[in-house]
Order: sequence, then C-alpha cells, then structure tokens
Amino acid sequence: MRTKNVETVLHQGDSDADHAHLQKRLKARDLMGFGIGIVIGTGIFTLTGVQAKLNAGPAVVISFAIAGVVSMLAALCYAELAAAVPTAGSAYTYAYTTIGELAAWIIAWDLLLEFMLGAATVSRGWSGYLQDSLGLPTSLFGEDAPVNVGAILVVAVLGCVAAVGIREAKWVTNVLVLVKVAVCIFVIAVGIFFVKASNLTPFIPPSRPSEESSAGLKQPLWQFVSGAEPTAYGLSGVIVAAAVVFFAYTGFEAVANLGEETENPGRDMPRGLIGSLAVCTLLYLGVCLVLTGMVNYTDLSEGAPISDAFGQVGLDWAKVLVGIAAVAGLTSVILVELVAVPRIMFALSRDGLLPAAVGRISPKTSTPFAATVGVTIVIALISAFVPIDVLAEMVSIGTLFAFTVVAIAVAVLRRTKPRMERPFRTPAVPLVPILSAVSCVGLMSALAVETWLRFLVWLAVGLAIYFGYGRRHSLLDQAEEAAAARQAKVAGEA
Ligand code: ALA
Repeated sequence: MRTKNVETVLHQGDSDADHAHLQKRLKARDLMGFGIGIVIGTGIFTLTGVQAKLNAGPAVVISFAIAGVVSMLAALCYAELAAAVPTAGSAYTYAYTTIGELAAWIIAWDLLLEFMLGAATVSRGWSGYLQDSLGLPTSLFGEDAPVNVGAILVVAVLGCVAAVGIREAKWVTNVLVLVKVAVCIFVIAVGIFFVKASNLTPFIPPSRPSEESSAGLKQPLWQFVSGAEPTAYGLSGVIVAAAVVFFAYTGFEAVANLGEETENPGRDMPRGLIGSLAVCTLLYLGVCLVLTGMVNYTDLSEGAPISDAFGQVGLDWAKVLVGIAAVAGLTSVILVELVAVPRIMFALSRDGLLPAAVGRISPKTSTPFAATVGVTIVIALISAFVPIDVLAEMVSIGTLFAFTVVAIAVAVLRRTKPRMERPFRTPAVPLVPILSAVSCVGLMSALAVETWLRFLVWLAVGLAIYFGYGRRHSLLDQAEEAAAARQAKVAGEA
C-alpha cells in the first residue's frame, strides 16, 4: 500500500544520476499525431465489418458511439493526471501516487498487455490486408497462415525504427497518420454516393439465439453469470459489439506515456488526449455509417471489409487504393505501440520493480534501446501464432481495467491531494470518474468468459513477478526502510 509522493515523481527525471533523460521535444500537434496514429487501425478497418455482420448490423454505429463515450469519459480523467503528473509511466505512476505500489504494478502489467498484444493484433490485421490487397500467399500472410510471416516481418522492421529514436519514429508516424485520416475521409466522401437506405433497415436487426460456436465460454460474462440465453443482434448484440469495437479506441492514452518528452505537458497533454480521441470518434462514426449503407451487413467481408465494400459497388480502383492506405495506416499503430511499451518498462525499472538493465536509456539513441529490442522479439513471436480475435478481446479487457483504475485515482487524488497543481481539471468530479468506472466495468462484463479467464491468468503471472522480485527491490521500499532506520537511530541517541 506504500504510495509515492507526487512532488518526488515530478522531479524524478531531474535527479537521474547518469543524466540520460528522455528529451523534451514534443508539442500538442505531435501528441495528436501519436494519438491518432495509435488509435485508427484494425478496429475500424477490420472489426467494424466483423461486428456489423455477427452482432450489431448497421447499429454497429451505435456500438462505436457507446465505446466512444466510454473512451471520452476516460480521456477526461486521464487528461487531469497526465497534465499534473507528466511521466513516462502514465497510469502506472498515477496509481503509485494515489492507491499504492501493488495497484500501480498491476496497472503497469496491464498496460504492457494492452500495448504488446495491441501491436500483435494490428500486425496480424496488417498482414491480412496486405494479403488481400496484393493477392499474397495465404500460407505466409493473414489469419490462415500456420506461422504468420507477414506479421513477424512488420514487427521486426518497425521495432528497429522505434529502437533508433523518437525523432525518426515521430516523422514516420506523422506521414502515416495523414494517409490514414485521408483514407477515412475518402471512404466517407466517396462512399456516401453509394449508400442505399434499404441497407440501413432494420437498423438494429432483431435479436436471435447465438450459434453453437458463440455459446459456453465464448458468451459474454453477464450472460454466463445470469444464465440468460446467448443471443446475437438486438440491443444486447449492440452492447457486445461495443465491448469488442472498444478495441478501436484503445491506445489514445499512450499519449500520456510521452509526458516527460513534452515541452509543455500542462497545456499540451489534455489537447493531445482529448483532441486525438475526438477526431477519431467523428471519423469512426462516419465510416461505419457509410460502410453499412454501401453494403448490406450480411454481405460484409470479415478480412478487409472497407476495401471490399468498394469492390462490391464496382469501384475497383478505390478498392486497391483503400487497401494499400489501410496497410499504411496499420503500420503507424504498430509503431506507436512499439514506442510505448519500453517506456513503461523504463518507468518500472527506475522504481526498482524491474531490473535496472531493462530500462536503461542508451546515450547514443536517447531511447530504452535494449527494452525495445527485447519487446520487439516477444511481440513478433506472439503475432506469429495467436489468432487476431483472441488478441483483440484481451486488449479491450486490459484497457477497460486500466481506465477503471485511472478514474478511481482521479477521485482519490482530489481528496488526498486537494492542493496539487492541476493544469487541467476533469469536469464534474466525482460524477465523471464514477460514470467512467461504471461504464468500463459494464463493457468488460460484455466480453467473453474465456477472455476474463485469460486476463486473470495474466494478472496472476504479474502478481508472481511482483511478489518474487518487485516487492523486495522497490526503491520506495528501500527509501522508507532507510528513513525508518535513521529515525530509530535519532530516537536511540535521544
Ligand atoms: N485502436 C487501435 C486499432 O484499432 C489499436 O487498431
């Protein structure tokens, strides 16, 4: 339960003995680039089609709106803490200063899950879109490949870019973000001429019993617990789709990991977080509406739905263009996630919860070089073998859990540190944090039972590492013990 002092956290970067700090180079515009770069990806390009077809029909638009509102509530909470405590550890550090070390470790472990599996998910989506656009062999690319060589390749190349340095990563990311936003606008502006009202009715297809393959451990937790009959479509289908497409919004909070590299975090962090999320939400709603209006939801492709929709309305040139742009867009997501993971490890090792060697910043590249290389290898291996849907649901549950803790931290910190300087204040505290936490837990309960089980296993592994290593090596623990020893000595002399 030991907590860090907020002031110590704020000055931690200044006192690092080796002066190998992360450099303050980023502005609000760069943060939005990172945010949009990590947010728009497999969620909109792939999951939209799958969820419209299997769970929500055209009402996948409502699912995206629900997930967008839940994300915006979380962003409002994140913005307060990211502006007040700008550190590379983000939510991990917020929990450390408010709830305690164990909760902080759990959050960090959870964020590692989110970003590592997020990168793996998107690299598999990347491989699938590339296969579809260029007609590459399905034995090496896409979900049917026994070893997804395409996913391994893209992770390896982008891992090198991330290891070399933030400036290079930023430049590459910004170009890819422009392409991605342009393709979303293109889909809306051109696709709208092919929308048929008949495709949008009924907007919410009537509820019906799920297929055998979606029952048992694959059904949502709340259905499993309540014993309700598993169903597809209807209102419950819209909610289940919202929990899955929540994946599409995950990642915007990675902006908060760049706190120590931002010139003016008090002003730029809220702009970066809320701005990138607002842009993505608008684009998502437009793309969903146009997509389900262009093609009847029952005819949507599950592999490359957006480019395929243009093929179905006879615009083959647009199909190829959108397919290739989607590949470029997915590339930027993988890159930003590869940049975020080593920074969380950097913060953990700085606190003694992971060995120091893990987070060492290379003086040559100013990046956590060794961690980036290690993480790249692990993600490449995961992306080679684990199916995309398993990975995506894991990312959603991990992120929703982290958002819940951040919302609690905002409310707790307002009570315990009322005087802390807050360049940005979450509106209507405690209402907004409570709504945020409750809606996150609500969406989590719509995820599959097996996803919950996998998540619990991941948490158990994390706890084993904490109690086996972190608890005894924590620098905060050592500092507290030294202070207690000093006090005992002074008392003894008196
Ligand atoms: N939100 C990101 C995506 O949809 C991870 O690909």
